[in-house]
Amino acid sequence: MRTKIKDILKSEESGYNVNVKGWVRSFRNNQFIAINDGSCMGNIQVVIGLDTDEAIIKKINNGASVSVDGTVIPSLGKGQKVEIKADSITILGECDPEQFPLQLKNRPSLEYLREIAHLRFRTNTFGAVFRVRHTLAFAVHKFYNDRGFVYLHTPVITASDAEGAGEMFCVTTLPLANPPRDENGGIDYKEDFFGRCTNLTVSGQLEAELGAMALSEVYTFGPTFRAENSNTARHLAEFWMIEPEVAFNDINDNMDLAEDFIKYVVGYALEHNREDLEFLAQRLTDEEKQKPMNERSDMGLIEKLEFVLHNMFERINYTEAINILLDSPAYKKKKFKYDVSWGIDMQSEHERYLVEKHFKKPVIVTGYPKEIKAFYMRQNDDGKTVAAMDILVPGIGELVGGSQREERLDKLTERMKEMHIPADEMYWYLDTRRFGTVPHAGFGLGFERLVLFVTGMTNIRDVIPFPRTPKNAEF
Ligand code: 4AD
Ligand code: MG
Repeated sequence: MRTKIKDILKSEESGYNVNVKGWVRSFRNNQFIAINDGSCMGNIQVVIGLDTDEAIIKKINNGASVSVDGTVIPSLGKGQKVEIKADSITILGECDPEQFPLQLKNRPSLEYLREIAHLRFRTNTFGAVFRVRHTLAFAVHKFYNDRGFVYLHTPVITASDAEGAGEMFCVTTLPLANPPRDENGGIDYKEDFFGRCTNLTVSGQLEAELGAMALSEVYTFGPTFRAENSNTARHLAEFWMIEPEVAFNDINDNMDLAEDFIKYVVGYALEHNREDLEFLAQRLTDEEKQKPMNERSDMGLIEKLEFVLHNMFERINYTEAINILLDSPAYKKKKFKYDVSWGIDMQSEHERYLVEKHFKKPVIVTGYPKEIKAFYMRQNDDGKTVAAMDILVPGIGELVGGSQREERLDKLTERMKEMHIPADEMYWYLDTRRFGTVPHAGFGLGFERLVLFVTGMTNIRDVIPFPRTPKNAEF
């Protein structure tokens, strides 16, 4: 039976027989092999006999896969407590050193690795990132499960545009070259698979609201799709989102839930992925050294995460946020690319100024102008703002977007009319407001932005196994 390298390194016991399987990371002096099986950051050192067959030795190259039977013994070398004295070694899959592009001596760049799908996973950096990503996903489910939420699977294919932003991928089986036409010459979707125009979901929220109106506390955690042409380090066309929706919660309960949630998952990763996070922290520190002094962050990755865990998020309203920006040296010295005035949809540079320069911690902004937010947000009494909340974090900007929902049927339909959202098609959603409506609230947290934040990686493409971005869906 195979033993995981993680378990051997963790126990530090010796004097027993094992089988390990994994990939060669290095081979020194025709005797010492470092093997990694992805179960942890560390490699196990395997010492092979000097009498090992020459034909086998030739095949022990970086990247080759091997199976080793041997005895765990205390290690004399530095860097590890135990190692394996091999009795036999089998090459499972050869790896031609002439063609294998991953030579650990010259560290391949992240951009280069993005193009070589199979290699990415073999590196320390991506091993750490994807183990942390896994832990965070597990912690998400644990957090909601422990609090009695029901995990609701909302559809990937839908006919509605929850955010009303029109950034959707169409789902159709109609022939693109020659689609059936209706009497006005438009595409006749009645002939389509679902008998109507459908798209990939941009959010599971609207469906989750229906669940919350009976189960009280639900959450979704699934893929969402946006056809926005934003080629930035923080946007994906396919990303995962967590959307809790809670009956009887108001905007303050919503903020509390989101803050507890973020702290919980950050704390969980710190507790369960220490080794990976320490590696990623060192990586980030090395990267920071390349930057000019004034652009370096004053906290390391672990310190930053501990800080988030132990400090209250700042809570301000939109008007205060705009005033801070207008008063800022950055604004006065015309450092912002985009102008600032009450009513703007804050750009990433503004959000990052608030969290990185002004407050130096996560900030929850509430009470946004209704014009820049979705139709379902609860209207405040001032007639100008809605009970929206965005959570902004250092290095990322917006991590969470949410709101208290408009539970009053008349207010909701009035707003939909103003925003030209067809109320007849949304009858199934409006029914929740007709039959036993209650105040309720929820939010969406972009999972990859969370992984970015926790791993300290800088490009969102590097925290999802197979990124989907404009002009890129190769693997
Ligand atoms: O702010 P958004 O658009 O909110 C919603 O979709 C609501 N329906 C959520 C709700 O109230 N249930 O998106 C929520 C979060 C953003 O804060 C951001 O973290 C992430 O989803 N996000 C993206 N992440 C990666 N790539 C993109 N293109 C993203 N668009 C949004
Ligand atoms: Mg948003």
